[in-house]
Amino acid sequence: MHRPVEIISATAVAARIEDLARDIHAKLPPGPLTVVGVLRGAFIFMADLVRAIPRDITCDFLGVRSYGDATVSTGVVEIKSDLSTPLEHRHVLLVEDIVDTGLTLKYLLEVLGARAPASLHTCALLSKPSRRQIEVPVDFVGFEVPDEFVVGYGMDAGQLFRNLPYIGVMKS
Ligand code: IMP
Ligand code: MG
Repeated sequence: MHRPVEIISATAVAARIEDLARDIHAKLPPGPLTVVGVLRGAFIFMADLVRAIPRDITCDFLGVRSYGDATVSTGVVEIKSDLSTPLEHRHVLLVEDIVDTGLTLKYLLEVLGARAPASLHTCALLSKPSRRQIEVPVDFVGFEVPDEFVVGYGMDAGQLFRNLPYIGVMKS
């Protein structure tokens, strides 16, 4: 398998997360926050992000799997494992590793929005705007990246490379 080539260093990721956390803390309604991570890609990003937001936080996770084949995405995602806590009356921040077509985030926003949270915001470490198929609000974005397959810092290629401390691209 090809090795990833670094495009965003671990130092740059750490610095950007400090900015994101400050921005999130300043813009979200005050009070306790429930941070919902989308497994598995968001686990490392979320771990760093929640430690940088200075307020009371509860953490929960969703496991999802996209339906459909590689060429036709239906936008239907299967929830493999659901949250363990209700969202009613909670301020909620949904955390994704990367927003690509936008279909996954759009679906999850509908599902979580139906659970009557007090507020619902979205945060993604990365966004590939050139790939978007559907308009979806991403309130906080770490970095915009070009249309290349990225790995590292939680993101995988065939389940590998999640443990890389930097973000890389797979070059052939
Ligand atoms: P969507 O196309 O926005 O629905 O993206 C759904 C999911 O695909 C993301 O949450 C990622 O887990 C995964 N994904 C999309 N692009 C990449 C990539 O470049 N590298 C690794 N995972 C990706
Ligand atoms: Mg993901």
